[in-house]
Amino acid sequence: MLLSLVILLFTFPTANAVTDLQANCTGTDRRYNGTSCYVMVKTAIRHSAAKLSCNHYLGYSGHLYHIRNAAVQAVTKQLISTYSLATDYIWTGSETINSSAALTDKNNWAHYYRDGTFVSGTNLPWATGYPSTNNRAFYRSTDDRIFPQAEASTSFYICEYEEALKQPVTDLEQKCVNLKNSSVLTSFVNDACYVLQPAVTKNYNDSKVSCNALSGYNGHLAHIRTMEELWIAEAFRF
Ligand SMILES: *[C@@H]1O[C@H](CO)[C@@H](O)[C@H](O)[C@H]1NC(C)=O
Ligand SMILES: *[C@@H]1O[C@H](CO)[C@@H](O)[C@H](O)[C@H]1NC(C)=O
Ligand SMILES: *[C@@H]1O[C@H](CO)[C@@H](O)[C@H](O)[C@H]1NC(C)=O
Ligand SMILES: *[C@@H]1O[C@H](CO)[C@@H](O)[C@H](O)[C@H]1NC(C)=O
Ligand SMILES: *[C@@H]1O[C@H](CO)[C@@H](O)[C@H](O)[C@H]1NC(C)=O
Repeated sequence: MLLSLVILLFTFPTANAVTDLQANCTGTDRRYNGTSCYVMVKTAIRHSAAKLSCNHYLGYSGHLYHIRNAAVQAVTKQLISTYSLATDYIWTGSETINSSAALTDKNNWAHYYRDGTFVSGTNLPWATGYPSTNNRAFYRSTDDRIFPQAEASTSFYICEYEEALKQPVTDLEQKCVNLKNSSVLTSFVNDACYVLQPAVTKNYNDSKVSCNALSGYNGHLAHIRTMEELWIAEAFRF
């Protein structure tokens, strides 16, 4: 009894401690809820560009947000309504899993992470009659429902940063994010920095020796060995 009392006394303050992410998740454009920080961005861009833009907090593998339960749906609805318009469409991290399977099959939808892995999205709050013909999804506050939309459509978006994904910020992640500008796209995923310069074309030989944007790192053309790496490459291609 005495032992459990001691444990209680010493663990209670820890449970209430404010995390780094929580402490920094302040401002009208963001909310901390559960163990995630949600940041809304009011720049309308296509889905793949939004996916590559969740870099507000380094070291948390930011990704488009997951409407994983009613609390997330409620807190992000509140964020949209106070920071923006209830009629705005907001990109989510939901995509179809298998491009050959039916888009109308709710089991074919998932919540995606930055590295192309995903968790089941069978709980998604679809509007009546959906999903249908598109393979990305956005949310609208006035309906409090999500709708399928084409990747190339442009919308605002919400990024999510999770405590569970926290890892030390490396020199490479810092340099990768700093390299990004209006003509260079980058994404830091699983300790690798992917870089694309859409306006630059080269023959294969020249491109092989051009992966030298980051000094101190021996860059090489991207290795696409897994479905996850293909998913990342697809975001850049779009
Ligand atoms: C949060 O803020 C503290 C100091 O204000 C800073 O040291 C820390 O790096 C920040 N964390 C993130 C994830 O931005
Ligand atoms: C998250 O937000 C929802 C909606 O505002 C709220 O009901 C819930 O209590 C919040 N959860 C936490 C852990 O703050
Ligand atoms: C994707 O869907 C097609 C059509 O239903 C099916 O034949 C195929 O096995 C599925 N692929 C995977 C990896 O599940
Ligand atoms: C973007 O970064 C690249 C590579 O560092 C640089 O060559 C280019 O001038 C930059 N462009 C802009 C518009 O800042
Ligand atoms: C690329 O390099 C190979 C081997 O050196 C050479 O045969 C080929 O002509 C080069 N191609 C171009 C387009 O420069």
